[in-house]
Amino acid sequence: MADQGADPRCRCVAVAADLRHDWPNALAEAGFDTQRPTAWLAEGLLYALPSEGANLLLERITANSAPGGFLAFDHAEDTDALRSARAQVAEELVALWQGGPGEPGPWLTQHGWTPEVRDVAEAAGGFGRPAPPAFDPARPGSGRGWLCTARLKA
Ligand SMILES: C[S@@+](CC[C@H](N)C(=O)[O-])C[C@H]1O[C@@H](n2cnc3c(N)ncnc32)[C@H](O)[C@@H]1O
Repeated sequence: MADQGADPRCRCVAVAADLRHDWPNALAEAGFDTQRPTAWLAEGLLYALPSEGANLLLERITANSAPGGFLAFDHAEDTDALRSARAQVAEELVALWQGGPGEPGPWLTQHGWTPEVRDVAEAAGGFGRPAPPAFDPARPGSGRGWLCTARLKA
């Protein structure tokens, strides 16, 4: 990256935390400013939290976001097809599954966010790609997967 002259335009601070514990305090101690708009990314994470844990995570993200804050994440329904796809990557991914939130659009709206939710199979089609088998509606036993972005309402 340095050879390409790709110099960072921001300061990067890594804060290790268990998201079931008091991570907002750890962020504050590392200098996080809640008054400035923030982009949150929770990729491949929500399924590893039980529904109450996912609610608590979103409540904390919301409480630590200035208006205009941005949030992105993926999520999916648990199905046999998805479980077997996860098992092919690593057994740990099967054991990590705790469910996460329900359908993301209403979940985000209830917490004060304006969501944009895309179905994984439709998004893949938009890029000229086949739907991942576990999300392919043409296959029996497939489920829905979602790619979500949201803005915090002013
Ligand atoms: C599929 S991976 C996502 C990887 C991530 N998007 C990345 O690019 O590194 C899921 C990650 O969630 C982490 N995780 C699961 N439960 C967690 C928790 N309670 N607190 C913090 N991280 C957690 C796991 O350790 C794992 O690294």
